[in-house]
Amino acid sequence: MTHLTPYHFGSPAGAEHFTDRREELALIADRLTGGQNVILHGPRRYGKTSLLHRAIEAARKRGGRVGYVNLLRCSSRREVAQAITQGIFSGPLHGGTTRRMARLVERLRVRPRLDFSPTGGVTVFFEPGMRDTDWPGAMEDACRLLAEASASHAVGLVLDEFQQIVEVDPPLAGTFKAILDESPTVSYVIAGSHVHLMERLTTAPGAPLLAMGELLRLGPIPDGEMAPYLVARARARRKQLTPEVALRICAMGGPAPNDIQRLAQHSFDVAGGSIGIAEVEAGMALAMGRESTTFAERYERLAPVARRVLHLASAPGGLVQPYGLAALRKVEMANANAVRKALASLEESELIARGPEGWEVADPFFRRWLQTDP
Ligand SMILES: Nc1ncnc2c1ncn2[C@@H]1O[C@H](COP(=O)(O)OP(=O)(O)OP(=O)(O)O)[C@@H](O)[C@H]1O
Ligand SMILES: [Mg+2]
Repeated sequence: MTHLTPYHFGSPAGAEHFTDRREELALIADRLTGGQNVILHGPRRYGKTSLLHRAIEAARKRGGRVGYVNLLRCSSRREVAQAITQGIFSGPLHGGTTRRMARLVERLRVRPRLDFSPTGGVTVFFEPGMRDTDWPGAMEDACRLLAEASASHAVGLVLDEFQQIVEVDPPLAGTFKAILDESPTVSYVIAGSHVHLMERLTTAPGAPLLAMGELLRLGPIPDGEMAPYLVARARARRKQLTPEVALRICAMGGPAPNDIQRLAQHSFDVAGGSIGIAEVEAGMALAMGRESTTFAERYERLAPVARRVLHLASAPGGLVQPYGLAALRKVEMANANAVRKALASLEESELIARGPEGWEVADPFFRRWLQTDP
């Protein structure tokens, strides 16, 4: 399918808007068909979901039976159990007669309703139960069926936005550990953002899912891959973009590929036949302007020290010595502790991230807003 706009951002990218990530893609697809677990960490908007979808597609082409679950919208244990069971029944266990599917459902200790659509899709629904309904047990039962299926096929389940289980009910991490322990032949891919939370779940000492899979940390896409992609997409839409200007878009919009594509699209929109530095500047102003209300709200919610720290981090190169005397004077704080706390909370909410030199504002449009707002 050919899209009208050259670039894509804001939601997972399809094949046409996907570049690089060859090694990661090959590895996840291999593991999904090889019964091995993977743990995927990456900051927001770096392309985790896009990568997972492409890996699932590749694994399915090889005959793997793979399901996808996104836990982001789950806010209760019932919803987590429902999402997992849905991922299993609409993915690896899907197929055959409705009677076969119904028979499988009978083996779950809490039985969901299965709704079949005319196009062959299936939806799983758990009635909200009593307080003591064994939702983790229901989930374990569904995963046990998956383990059985792995006797005859390569079977995998991708759990995206896994960090959400901390919001729902932290002990669920232990349930997943037990599930993974009991399913050595199923490949589980556990992915999430909020790197802090993911580390607490999967890599920190004592983490419930420590060493349960091969760790993959998703970084930025190298400019050497991203810039030629930007150039090719502009050219396909009959606008000129030189490699130099494309690199400028990467520098201004990076590091998240989502933001690079967003800046590229806005630059494309304002350009006539050719996208130059002036158009990139205008594209940046346009993208920033569209979000200025959100930025103002985001800013107003912060404590005064956090606001000042954020301003320092928005300077070119970022905030290099946050506890140095000059920085402390600028944030009008006598002690480093308040600054440390502000940095930690800004990092936790992913407003800042460590750059090559110092702390930087993660969103380039917000960064520009902070630089320009009086
Ligand atoms: N391989 C890629 N090549 C080019 N652009 C990409 C690639 N992967 C992601 N992007 C860009 O990033 C955007 C977001 O991708 P995606 O939704 O997969 O990220 P994510 O890490 O899952 O984000 P979130 O943490 O918000 O769920 C896409 O719309 C696209 O602009
Ligand atoms: Mg995602």
